[in-house]
Amino acid sequence: MRAVVVEEPGGPEVLRVADDVAEPEAGPGEVLLEVRATAVNRADTLQRRGMYPPPPGASDIIGLECSGTVAALGEGVEHLAVGDEVCALLAGGGYAERVAVPAGQVMPVPDGVDLVTAAGIAEVACTVWSNVFMRAGLTAGDVLLVHGGSGGIGSCAIQLAAAYDARVATTAGAASADYCRDLGAGLVVDYRTGDFVAEVKEWTDGHGADVVLDNMGGAYLPRNVDVLATEGRVVVIGMQGGAKGELDLSTLLPKRASVHATSLRGRPPAEKAEICAQVVEHVWPLISDGRVRIHVEDVLGLDDVARAHERMETGGHRGKIVLDVSGS
Ligand SMILES: NC(=O)c1ccc[n+]([C@@H]2O[C@H](COP(=O)([O-])OP(=O)(O)OC[C@H]3O[C@@H](n4cnc5c(N)ncnc54)[C@H](OP(=O)(O)O)[C@@H]3O)[C@@H](O)[C@H]2O)c1
Repeated sequence: MRAVVVEEPGGPEVLRVADDVAEPEAGPGEVLLEVRATAVNRADTLQRRGMYPPPPGASDIIGLECSGTVAALGEGVEHLAVGDEVCALLAGGGYAERVAVPAGQVMPVPDGVDLVTAAGIAEVACTVWSNVFMRAGLTAGDVLLVHGGSGGIGSCAIQLAAAYDARVATTAGAASADYCRDLGAGLVVDYRTGDFVAEVKEWTDGHGADVVLDNMGGAYLPRNVDVLATEGRVVVIGMQGGAKGELDLSTLLPKRASVHATSLRGRPPAEKAEICAQVVEHVWPLISDGRVRIHVEDVLGLDDVARAHERMETGGHRGKIVLDVSGS
């Protein structure tokens, strides 16, 4: 089959489409998908550079999500049928014509969404739902601060939190401020020139953020704790600002606050299946009725995979960059 291969870690130029990659097979409890499209995630760029290896047992082909058609069922899979159009959360393998995935990570395509766009939903919906709602327990009326609001994760987090009646603040590049406001952010702080601690506190009359969804890691850790409200929760999901930061416990303790850090990719299939089930129940209806839109910045062919990675690493994109696998 055709798939993207990386022989040596490096820049986008190391991504190559090969025609002779071995076909995966659906093992017990798995499903084989004929991939229609996949989407680029920031983690893919780290894997390409050799900094984010796949978890044990996962495909070493890049790609954390896809859409497509069920091509075969492994032993014991009953709730799906050959020919079903679906999208899936993957531990790897999405940049290929076929991928095998545990059946619990396969979801129906939300009503009203085309199959190419559906490639860009699973990773953002599962990451945002599992962290902001399941882990941090965001509820109506809470203040959520989303860092990087114009990216794939950020665009989804703003809309989902707004749909659940939270007040949403976000950091973003100045050129994306209006885009973030249109998604539902009540406050947009320019991450290059603004002071998100001061601005969020002012916007909330001193309350601060009940939940912070953080992509920056070490660079933002002290300020994320500073901006927290009493009983607030920071959830670190990315380390774009480095892995190490200083945490002054005397700022955390009086607020009875907490700092969490999670990674979706390495979680056991049973946990991912639970997340997917909750996403289908709680997020899919919002996508189907248009309250949450998966904004696709661009759709490129698989042969343009290097250009897709370059665009993500250059920054300034809004929402998702999709790779059309079978249309290219
Ligand atoms: N832990 C997990 O399970 C998990 C799962 C999925 C994603 N993630 C992480 O979530 C993050 C977002 O992923 P993605 O795929 O959505 O990537 P993405 O689309 O590239 O989004 C990254 C965002 O970060 C913004 N940004 C850059 N510098 C910033 C700064 N100093 N302050 C605030 N924002 C800044 C970028 O804005 P500009 O484009 O304007 O530069 C961009 O909007 C990544 O760190 C990724 O590794 C984690």
